[in-house]
Amino acid sequence: MAAKGADLCDRTFEREIECKDGILKIKQAEVGDESCVVWDAALVLAKYLQTEHFCPTKHLVNKQVVELGAGTGVVGLIAASCGAHVCCTDLPEVVPLIELNKTSNQYMITGTFTAATLKWGQDVSAFQPCPDLVLVADCIYYEESLEPLVSTLCDLSNENTTILITYEERTTGNKPQLEKKFHQLIKEHFIVEEIPEEQQDPVYHSPDIHLLKLKRKL
Ligand SMILES: C[S@@+](CC[C@H](N)C(=O)[O-])C[C@H]1O[C@@H](n2cnc3c(N)ncnc32)[C@H](O)[C@@H]1O
Repeated sequence: MAAKGADLCDRTFEREIECKDGILKIKQAEVGDESCVVWDAALVLAKYLQTEHFCPTKHLVNKQVVELGAGTGVVGLIAASCGAHVCCTDLPEVVPLIELNKTSNQYMITGTFTAATLKWGQDVSAFQPCPDLVLVADCIYYEESLEPLVSTLCDLSNENTTILITYEERTTGNKPQLEKKFHQLIKEHFIVEEIPEEQQDPVYHSPDIHLLKLKRKL
């Protein structure tokens, strides 16, 4: 059942996530939709940000980062714990949960962290200039928002922007077709590289969770 606004924060339970410099305490909502818990694809992306492959020494310090469909905000919080300036975005009713997690993990943030509303397909002028890095975890399963999501990825990126996307491969319903359509859409605008499992976190990787790196086609 969907909960609205501050309701998401009324009853929460905590998940501890170890990261390089400490432990994040992420509050998940007891009542709500898919935004209210940490998904496995988020952990794969969050942990990849801390690998030697992606982040040799202090690579994220002072980088401008925007996360889309952030849910609990865990991926953005890890980026902010590595010194990045992060804006975690989601639908308006989810923003209070991200803010709650910012408050509970303030001591881990060495860059900066804000939460904001961004519905895919809508105006992104508040997020300009284009960030260095855009992060997206497990957001490829809404048919109606597939094209708006790709349009937002285009609006938020230029030739200097890296986009990292994780998604869990799903075999039920129309999910395989959605993933295929998503790949077709991104290939029109981006050079797409799949990061192999051996370059991901040694623990947090899985054959059914894909990690894509996108760069704008010139
Ligand atoms: C499956 S959850 C993933 C949450 C988080 N990224 C994670 O992996 O733990 C998908 C997220 O996308 C957000 N979302 C869905 N449709 C959206 C839209 N049209 N615009 C912005 N965010 C949207 C949801 O609110 C939710 O937080």
